[in-house]
Amino acid sequence: MVFVKGVLTSISLAIAAVASVAARPAQLKFEKRQEDQQGIDDTSDNGLTERVTWDSYTLKLDGERVFLFSGEFHYFRLPSPDLWTDILQKFRALDYNGVSFYFNWGYHSPKKGVYNFDGVRDVQKAFDAAEEADLYVISRAGPYINAETDCGGFPSWLMDMRSPARYSNEEYNANRKEWLTEINKFLVPNQITNKKGGPIILNQLENEYTGHDAEYMEAIKQKFLADGIEVPSIFNDKGMNNYFVNGTGAPDIYGFDKYPAGFDCSNPKKWATNASTEYMDYYAITNPEQPSALWEFQGGAFDPWNGPGYSACRQMVNEQYAKIYYKSNYGQGVRIQNHYMTYGGISWGGLATPSVYTSYDYGAPISEPGLMTTKAYEVKLQATFLHTVKPFLATEYFEPKIDNSDNILVLGRASIEAPTKFYVAHHLNTPSDNLDEFHVTVNTTDGFFNIPKSSKLVLNGRDAKVLVADYDFESQHLVYSTSEIFTHQDVGSYDVIVVYAYEKEEGEFVIKTGGKRNVKVETNDSVTSEFSDGVLQLTYTHPNGTTPVYISGAGKKNKDLLVLISGYETALLWWAPVIDKKKDTRVLINGPYLVRSAYVSRSSVAFTGDIDQTTDIQVILPRAITSITWNGKKVKLHKGDHSIWTGTLKFTEPEVKYTDLTKAKWKYSPGSPETDSDFDDSEWTTADRLTTNSVTTSDTLPILYADDYGYHTGSIWFRGTFNGSSEITGFNLTCISGAASAWMVWLNGEYLGGFDVGSQEFRNLDINIKGKNVISALLWTTGHEEDGGSNDAYKTARGFTSAKLLGLNDDQNQTASIDWKIQGNLGGEDLADPVRGAYNEGGLYGERYGWHLPGFPDSKWEDASIPEEKSRTGVSWYRTTFDVDIPEGYDVPMSLRYVDETKTRYRSLLFLNGWQLGRYANDLGPQTQFYLPRGILNTSGLNTLAVAVIPIDEAAQIGKLILEPYKVLQSAIPSVDSVESPSYQDRQ
Ligand code: GAL
Repeated sequence: MVFVKGVLTSISLAIAAVASVAARPAQLKFEKRQEDQQGIDDTSDNGLTERVTWDSYTLKLDGERVFLFSGEFHYFRLPSPDLWTDILQKFRALDYNGVSFYFNWGYHSPKKGVYNFDGVRDVQKAFDAAEEADLYVISRAGPYINAETDCGGFPSWLMDMRSPARYSNEEYNANRKEWLTEINKFLVPNQITNKKGGPIILNQLENEYTGHDAEYMEAIKQKFLADGIEVPSIFNDKGMNNYFVNGTGAPDIYGFDKYPAGFDCSNPKKWATNASTEYMDYYAITNPEQPSALWEFQGGAFDPWNGPGYSACRQMVNEQYAKIYYKSNYGQGVRIQNHYMTYGGISWGGLATPSVYTSYDYGAPISEPGLMTTKAYEVKLQATFLHTVKPFLATEYFEPKIDNSDNILVLGRASIEAPTKFYVAHHLNTPSDNLDEFHVTVNTTDGFFNIPKSSKLVLNGRDAKVLVADYDFESQHLVYSTSEIFTHQDVGSYDVIVVYAYEKEEGEFVIKTGGKRNVKVETNDSVTSEFSDGVLQLTYTHPNGTTPVYISGAGKKNKDLLVLISGYETALLWWAPVIDKKKDTRVLINGPYLVRSAYVSRSSVAFTGDIDQTTDIQVILPRAITSITWNGKKVKLHKGDHSIWTGTLKFTEPEVKYTDLTKAKWKYSPGSPETDSDFDDSEWTTADRLTTNSVTTSDTLPILYADDYGYHTGSIWFRGTFNGSSEITGFNLTCISGAASAWMVWLNGEYLGGFDVGSQEFRNLDINIKGKNVISALLWTTGHEEDGGSNDAYKTARGFTSAKLLGLNDDQNQTASIDWKIQGNLGGEDLADPVRGAYNEGGLYGERYGWHLPGFPDSKWEDASIPEEKSRTGVSWYRTTFDVDIPEGYDVPMSLRYVDETKTRYRSLLFLNGWQLGRYANDLGPQTQFYLPRGILNTSGLNTLAVAVIPIDEAAQIGKLILEPYKVLQSAIPSVDSVESPSYQDRQ
């Protein structure tokens, strides 16, 4: 028999009704379930590998059930490969067991047929980092990825394709095959199915494809197969749409994406949709024979130009959100959950689509500079629970009895492999800030209990709880606990369990003891214990801190049990790093900011991690371990009561040095000679295209779309020349570009204005009627649109849809025409800088001539200072060098902050050692602080900073630039090599 979940649900309800009169009903029901299952193994595989299989409950890796708890990470958003190791170690520390990688086609391919996988594009290093951190990889190679990236990850050269993307047609098929062939060279050898193993366990087909072309999906699937992908395929439906559940193009395991809080961070208290049972209901009829999978589940939110900023997103998608929505997922049976994002990073250079600015912090659990957040700690509490409490893996839904169903929703899950029951509770009205009280009737092998016995369960505001009943752990038997479980361990002579709830909440923890003889309870006054009939009940209030309760003779063979009852704030800082993967053993430590890893060697545990202050720690050590080290140094420990060891990790303030940029010597050069009428543009590209493959219609000819001439990123210059006549009084230009773009116009060197996209008329101008007139227009672009709707939106043009001369008497002078020249980045698709790649530089004069690069000889430039004393017209460039010295053993992520009071609008580009790490818009924001990742930033020596200022209004005056650390950590950050950063001389 194969379980059909919907049916089983009603059967179990029926059994529950009958069983309510029987003795030890849960046991009977459980035995019945076991009987039903005798000899049934509904495990499925894809016919290619048995290393990754699945049934209707979970994935199985080498036959072992796992909760795939993964997080999204974009290597292309962190241009410093050694930091990939750092971030993925943090995933591991938070107890993620998986990471999902998008692979960005456009990031690797500047030109048709040209692919680069070196340096910051070395995806093998990303796999190595994942493997080292013991993370399984979900590979998502597109070809289309979305991800708030330029063209949604399509290479810009694809914009000149005639045929529609994301459908089966010869032209697109050939192009996407070209990419898949290249990326598959990396995916194939990194699969778990290889002899030597590898981290990839699942491979995604396309991304949220809504184009309904099943042949196209099928062709992608076949391409992966043909190239040697053996791991099961997956597909992330954009919501519960029933797309590609089965039939042509369907993956091995279907699932969908959900962002229940939505993306309006300016309303951070508001969540767009409630948690309910809809995923479970949908799944029961859609793909009940596969594990319930959320391939992307909201982990934060992106923020637009002019948005409220990522602190607001972090507030909206905070730890309370994580408690409620993630736990609701578990209650609904979800056993594959990938957080989008777990670490967002930087949309450096021109990587972003116009909907987002440089920072892609995303309000994710790990912040842009790699820091921990409360949500990260909350995620760890959940992940460790999920990996520890195995009966929660394979469960069936049941509806528990509660006494406040008007306000509280409790989802019941009954293990199919043990009698254990789970009760997932949250407010029925998800965002309720109320304090609601309730009881749940738990049905266990020890009988029915209306819990808690002596107080009430509470959900005080935005909270959710997973309660466990009837659970055999280590040598112990839990009847129920109203505190949530973090983890438990057998540490040799005793077992330990860590439980928690918000401070001041009441709790009950009830065990059935091994023998009938009295047990001995040692604790403090805040805990009362009652023992009768072999059942021990602890009643307590959750403390600020941790209350230990030592119960001698609690378990089988009278094994002792240490119950550690923590208040929430303290619980957040419990860590349980795995010390033996095969035996599934962990070691418990409380206090540090970050615990990266723990290794046992002989009688010592070696911890690595980070602290932000002198930190008191508590450690629960396995038997025979008598000492610990922290980042290689021995820590003095005291063995206190109840076998808890304590010690202190001393934080020593480092001597971090960095230049005060407000006092630095700056060099200045004007940077827009293109505005002069006699500027020589003879080498520029002539705009001569009369047709376009763009989706944007042009009202005039020639086509003035930058992409049609191979210029795809950043600033683009357009110079139009026309002969004056007595009839011509002006001209009209209509600009098309993405959100937050701007364009500035000069005529014969005279500034005419700076604008948002749209149409502008320039009339009654002092035009030289006898001779040559030159229009210079500078377009500051913010990337290309995505193609989420499979409608070729990514081909929306950047440039001008109309350029007309205006006559004295009639508005449109058809006879006179403008000759146009276009210039973007140096070399166009033939990159001048293949190391930094296609998105790093645009077409500003300074970018074309390498002013942003280290080593550029700026000695002849004017001396200047920032804050600037002068208001400068046209584009300005500033350069300086500065020192940073961060001592070894510390992680001090650095940033550059613009502090501005200028009212005139300007845009700015920030280049650190030649890498474009920031796009700033003083009139839009919200971003003022830009992350300078180590590796690009030389943290023990000299750095070169180049800043371009592009006024939209006639002139601009840049305010302060401040180097600033986000935080100072005494850290076990892995060593970070300098990223290859070619200099000006290298380019010559
Ligand atoms: C999803 C998409 C992701 C990302 C996300 C929003 O629909 O698959 O790539 O764009 O939305 O951040």
